[in-house]
Amino acid sequence: MKRFVFSRISQLALVSAIALALCNLSDCYDPMDPNGNVKVTFDIYKWTTDGYMARVTIQNHHQYRHVEKPGWKLGWTWAGDEVIWLMSGAFATQQGNCSSFKFQIPHSCKKDPVILDLMPEVSPENRSEGCCRGGLLSAWAIDPSKSFSSFEIQVGNLEGNSTGHAPLNLTLMAPGPGYTCGPLVNTDPTVSSDIGGRREVQVFRTWKSTCLYSSFLANKAPVCCVSLSTFYNPRITSCPTCSCGCKEAGPDTSSCISEGTALPQSDALSNTDVVQCTDHNCPIRVHWHLKNNYLDYWRVKLTVSNYNYKRNYSNWNVLVQHPGFGQSMTTYSFNSSVLPTVGWEDEVALFWGINYYNTELLQADKDQLGSVTTEILLKKDMESFTLGNGWTFPRRIYFNGESCQMPLPDNFPVLPNGTSSQNPIPHLSLLLTIMLTLKLVNSWF
Ligand SMILES: *[C@@H]1O[C@H](CO)[C@@H](O)[C@H](O)[C@H]1NC(C)=O
Ligand SMILES: *[C@@H]1O[C@H](CO)[C@@H](O)[C@H](O)[C@H]1NC(C)=O
Ligand SMILES: *[C@@H]1O[C@H](CO)[C@@H](O)[C@H](O)[C@H]1NC(C)=O
Ligand SMILES: *[C@@H]1O[C@H](CO)[C@@H](O)[C@H](O)[C@H]1NC(C)=O
Ligand SMILES: *[C@@H]1O[C@H](CO)[C@@H](O)[C@H](O)[C@H]1NC(C)=O
Ligand SMILES: *[C@@H]1O[C@H](CO)[C@@H](O)[C@H](O)[C@H]1NC(C)=O
Ligand SMILES: *[C@@H]1O[C@H](CO)[C@@H](O)[C@H](O)[C@H]1NC(C)=O
Repeated sequence: MKRFVFSRISQLALVSAIALALCNLSDCYDPMDPNGNVKVTFDIYKWTTDGYMARVTIQNHHQYRHVEKPGWKLGWTWAGDEVIWLMSGAFATQQGNCSSFKFQIPHSCKKDPVILDLMPEVSPENRSEGCCRGGLLSAWAIDPSKSFSSFEIQVGNLEGNSTGHAPLNLTLMAPGPGYTCGPLVNTDPTVSSDIGGRREVQVFRTWKSTCLYSSFLANKAPVCCVSLSTFYNPRITSCPTCSCGCKEAGPDTSSCISEGTALPQSDALSNTDVVQCTDHNCPIRVHWHLKNNYLDYWRVKLTVSNYNYKRNYSNWNVLVQHPGFGQSMTTYSFNSSVLPTVGWEDEVALFWGINYYNTELLQADKDQLGSVTTEILLKKDMESFTLGNGWTFPRRIYFNGESCQMPLPDNFPVLPNGTSSQNPIPHLSLLLTIMLTLKLVNSWF
């Protein structure tokens, strides 16, 4: 028994050591979004007889990771016996034990309150500035004006004449696990402008915490894979087999449902993760089709398919890394933007839906997959453009911030025999292939 426990503990230790190593290498630091984080700020702007009023802001600084339904949940532990007298723009999920208050009843007396956002349709008296988006935060590169949430709290019941201590153990679920928040620390008071920008005003005191995302902590199953095709080869390179897990054996597993089969009626499938059975078993597939090669341009068709039977993706985004985005680009049916990158990484472009047209990636039904698609016209850089060596294929693709499984370069569609690769600098493309292989190897670990 003892031995068993010990081996479990050492296994755990090993797993967490690996987790830390993973985290250091690639997970907690995303080279394509080096400043990606969520910041939580408490701005105290008024003292009260027994405490203070504060504006709490959750700001998403991720370029392409948003907070989706059912929205964020913010929690903390009070350092003393604080209570929340009043709150606007959000609410505490539990009132807790307020039995020691005789006259005015606080909004929440919990030692460790959990806060949720209000819905957009909430009545005006419960609003505060920048509030009430049902917990959704847009990605920074897509819509900065909707990338934050604010709410106001009146905190009281502080001991003596104390001006308060920062809350401890901040937690952010956005919506599930994945974020780790640092302690709230005193920083320079937040300054804002007044009188049309001619006067600066500042809050009394500011506490700030930075929350970092780790997909390892989020413990999400892989969600996405990439397939490729070209005009010059009929072969389609499909997603790597079992990219997102293999079909479980046995007739009564309902983790995936064969194409064309009618969906069993709801109750059995209350689970939202019901996908169509495929060799890759991913809920999302991104297909990159090299469609045309013109004199000065080349054209790609990008299609994102949803294999979920019970899940729509609102405000989806797709990130693609490819050196060709260094040249000018026209995207026909998606919004797009080339993100700033650091160091020698290839250019990175972000794609997302057009309002009222395709911001919603619909679920699959019995007859067809949900999908959104666009064509992209890219200008050729004559120095580097080549059809050979897989240059035209993306180096990396993310869907909603999660990395997609790429096929191995060995399986890329190749040029037919006897075609010159139209490549002016052979060793450059060799170098690219080596770099690509290294990156793929990197992305496994
Ligand atoms: C509620 O708090 C009061 C005073 O702090 C305490 O006496 C009482 O036992 C608490 N009740 C519960 C159910 O915890
Ligand atoms: C809105 O505010 C009123 C009074 O200010 C309060 O009674 C009510 O519970 C609040 N509603 C929500 C949803 O917070
Ligand atoms: C706060 O309390 C301390 C002692 O507890 C006292 O020395 C100080 O003068 C008080 N400050 C105010 C503003 O009342
Ligand atoms: C904060 O979290 C740590 C680790 O989970 C725990 O040891 C500590 O007791 C917590 N502090 C409070 C005040 O809850
Ligand atoms: C997805 O969107 C469609 C069309 O708007 C809707 O009929 C369906 O109920 C939605 N599915 C879920 C799981 O919300
Ligand atoms: C997306 O594109 C549409 C039109 O092409 C534009 O109206 C809209 O503002 C764009 N959305 C964002 C978030 O840039
Ligand atoms: C192309 O050449 C390779 C070896 O050089 C050969 O194995 C392959 O069958 C050829 N493919 C076609 C379509 O001729």
